[in-house]
Amino acid sequence: MFQPSSPFSRATVDLLNATFVLSAVILVIVTGLVIYCILRFRSRPEQPEPRQFHGNKTLEIVWTVIPFLSLVWLLALTVNAMNASDPPRQNREPDVVVIGHQFWWVVRYPKSGVVTANEIHIPAGRPLLFRLESADVIHDFWVAQLGRKMDMVPEHPNFAWLQSDRPEEYHGVCAEFCGAQHAWMQIRVVADSPEAFAAWEKQQLEPAAPPATPAAERGARLFQQMTCANCHAIRGLPGEAKAGPDLSHLASRKTLGAGVVENTPEGLARWLRNPQKVKPGNLMPNMLLTDAQTEDLVRYFQTLK
Ligand code: CUA
Repeated sequence: MFQPSSPFSRATVDLLNATFVLSAVILVIVTGLVIYCILRFRSRPEQPEPRQFHGNKTLEIVWTVIPFLSLVWLLALTVNAMNASDPPRQNREPDVVVIGHQFWWVVRYPKSGVVTANEIHIPAGRPLLFRLESADVIHDFWVAQLGRKMDMVPEHPNFAWLQSDRPEEYHGVCAEFCGAQHAWMQIRVVADSPEAFAAWEKQQLEPAAPPATPAAERGARLFQQMTCANCHAIRGLPGEAKAGPDLSHLASRKTLGAGVVENTPEGLARWLRNPQKVKPGNLMPNMLLTDAQTEDLVRYFQTLK
């Protein structure tokens, strides 16, 4: 979070830094005065009782006015940072909708119709309005370098602005304890150049590639027969299940299970053999696949670029 990549996150970090500097200055002054007084006015043998005071109007005004002005200054900085990190959205439609699930994320682009999961592509260099929702419990969407942290509350959509000043990859997390696999609700954000983003969007809108080899064909059949299709949608196949991540372009993603395992043939096989072992408490059951079935499904999923 100390490497902000957007005006929104920069405002937050600037506020944090200013607060830290002010607090440090106060700490040094107060501690310094205490140490000075302890040394300078400590009792010494043979010394008479020092002069006793009661009340001092000047001092009291000084130590009231200085903290008051410090707090007013902090308030002004805070209001400023709030405005900069959370500008009004007026009537703008969201660019991206993210829906928190136990324990993964739906990512939708209402303007184009793209639906994906866990990995968010954005065009670099422009502010994007995110609508943040939850399908079950309270989650919290936080990609520190791109914008503010925002709770996802069931039945109550929240909004946040995110931006990446440059094409780069970012890491985000769920920042609200939401159950056993809260720690494995990771977010990968890929900020693309505008051209790369347009290409990505176009590719995501394509229907899933038809299986091209016998193994992939068997895998596609298994996908329907083993009831995978009851929870997962694949664009171009019957069914529009939304309980689990959309798999139309699964092979274009880097990880599975919101970051818990690499999306490689080995990782996929490990996940399919027993998702509960890889990510205990997630909602995907162990389908008790044979090795041959696992292999065919892996072959099929790998074609879903
Ligand atoms: Cu979702 Cu923590």
